[in-house]
Amino acid sequence: MSGYFDIHTHVLPRADDGSSSSAESIEMLCALFDQGVSRVVATPHFYASSDEPEEFLLRRGASMDRLLARIDEEIGKDESIRERLPDIYLGGEVEFFGAMSNVDILSEICISGTKRLLVEMPFAPWKPSMIEELYMLRIKQGITPIIAHIDRYFGFFKSEMLYDMLDNGIEIQINADAFLRFSTRRRALELMRMGMVHYLGSDTHNMGRRAPRIGEAIVEIEKRLGKEALKIILGNGSYLAKGAAPLFKVEDR
Ligand SMILES: [Fe+2]
Repeated sequence: MSGYFDIHTHVLPRADDGSSSSAESIEMLCALFDQGVSRVVATPHFYASSDEPEEFLLRRGASMDRLLARIDEEIGKDESIRERLPDIYLGGEVEFFGAMSNVDILSEICISGTKRLLVEMPFAPWKPSMIEELYMLRIKQGITPIIAHIDRYFGFFKSEMLYDMLDNGIEIQINADAFLRFSTRRRALELMRMGMVHYLGSDTHNMGRRAPRIGEAIVEIEKRLGKEALKIILGNGSYLAKGAAPLFKVEDR
């Protein structure tokens, strides 16, 4: 498999505000595959203020089990679906919280088989202590934070802040939509051109207003920056996949 690795999706059924059913999840997965994605990380939201970590892991596991059962059922009815499913990895989108570097269970919310964690930062200017906390996560637990949807912070973050974070090993994910909206396209392309973005994600939540648009973004990036820019994104995905362990592999079904 050599397609894109979408590291940010809400494809698990009824695990958060994403997919509302297993049927919708399968539609989302097939849509992603049709757009060139061969691997997907399911990243349901984790809010430390309201989620008990153990309860979150149980909910995520139960949701994955329901989805896998439904996939088997659908393959039983129609073999051709097997050809349109990406491999699925488990992860989570962890909302930033103070002293998160001291919480051991975060390693279980990393992308399965890796020490990389998708982190959703606050939607207001970040304090230096917050950035420091991300660095501590690397130092204390060896976990590399991946900043989710950097485009959502374009309103306030400064590039110098990003340079410092990149120098300290923090990784960056950008949403596909950022390349398709007039208000964010220019800066998204600029960051991509400067090699300041590691991963492209769909952040898809459903098949309606937040359906996957990663295919359109790939076309836009190639048109504006050429194939080389996409090779970097593809390469990072492959690198990540080397250590990562899929929970669902199409060839095993
Ligand atoms: Fe998300």
